[in-house]
Amino acid sequence: MNKPVSNKQAEAIASALLDWYASHARTLPWRAPPGRQPDPYHVWLSEIMLQQTTVATVRRRFDDFIRRWPNVRALAAAPLEEVMAAWAGLGYYARARNLHKCAQVVAGELGGRFPDTPQALQELPGIGPYTAGAIAAIAFGHPAVAMDTNAERVIARLFAVEEPLPDAKPRLRALAEALLRPHVPGDFAQALMDLGAMICTARKPACGSCPLRASCAAHAGRLAEVLPRRARKAARPTRVGDAFFITRVDSHVLLRRRPARGMLGGMVEFPSSGWDGQPAPFDDDTPFGLAFEQLASEVRHTFTHFHLCLKLHHLAEPLGERQAAALALPRGWFWHPVGDMDTVGLPTLMRKASTFLREHAP
Ligand code: ADE
Repeated sequence: MNKPVSNKQAEAIASALLDWYASHARTLPWRAPPGRQPDPYHVWLSEIMLQQTTVATVRRRFDDFIRRWPNVRALAAAPLEEVMAAWAGLGYYARARNLHKCAQVVAGELGGRFPDTPQALQELPGIGPYTAGAIAAIAFGHPAVAMDTNAERVIARLFAVEEPLPDAKPRLRALAEALLRPHVPGDFAQALMDLGAMICTARKPACGSCPLRASCAAHAGRLAEVLPRRARKAARPTRVGDAFFITRVDSHVLLRRRPARGMLGGMVEFPSSGWDGQPAPFDDDTPFGLAFEQLASEVRHTFTHFHLCLKLHHLAEPLGERQAAALALPRGWFWHPVGDMDTVGLPTLMRKASTFLREHAP
């Protein structure tokens, strides 16, 4: 068991952290300038994007979203397909669906205002305990902690918590709550995130530059590089699947919108099978029983729970107009220009496949 935190110790750590944040905070497009309250819509959108996507990627994509949908009412009014397409490449597409649903609840039932407590925020689609704490603290100054992996790492090291993650989570949260200064919870949350991202990094932490070095039990015990400990994860299995380039003489390719539920739900793909635990979206061994040739190249992609090897297949000759017109296209299948693959909103897996379409398909 770790010792409880004394008030004096908490005060010293929090003030060193907040002083450091005042001069080293990262400038990020969803943050307000010092002394200003950020827009809750910006905070909510950024936190949803950051749930499983890096700051570097979100930084590049956030402004496009805000320019296109400047407030929650505009986002709520957008067609879901447009939001899904704008999310392409950010991964975990259930987030885009929930984002849209959440915008509709806030713009409709809640009159355009986000709730300001973690409890009420957690009632909304796509908002779990971490995101609720982050939005409440950053957008509304509510005294809540936001324990992402960066914050967990900083706290685990500061108090030399040996218990492995994920079991250590409640203890790490309690320790962070003991440090929280209620007058600036938003700064406190983001200071922990920034320290974790810039100094107290997972590998090779820069302890020499750390404002909390004097209070850090891991530093004192030469444990910073090995904490936090983690329970061993099961190895990811590799699954194999097939994707089919069905091209037409006028340089169109057949695409399909995936069902709303399940992996890559609602996203556009080259017809594919065998990798997502779902039955193939066609009756024969191949779409429409057509004869395909396998490309020498394969696509490799890693999802949370498995690696995927996607084999690619193309037609020896593109279909003529008449052959193509004779295909009975299931709902959600459509022809799309090969020269315009960037605007259709392909998820990263299918974007990787599309690079081979240009190189190899007839
Ligand atoms: N990761 C998650 N939320 C963040 C934020 N508000 N600032 C920086 N990194 C984050």
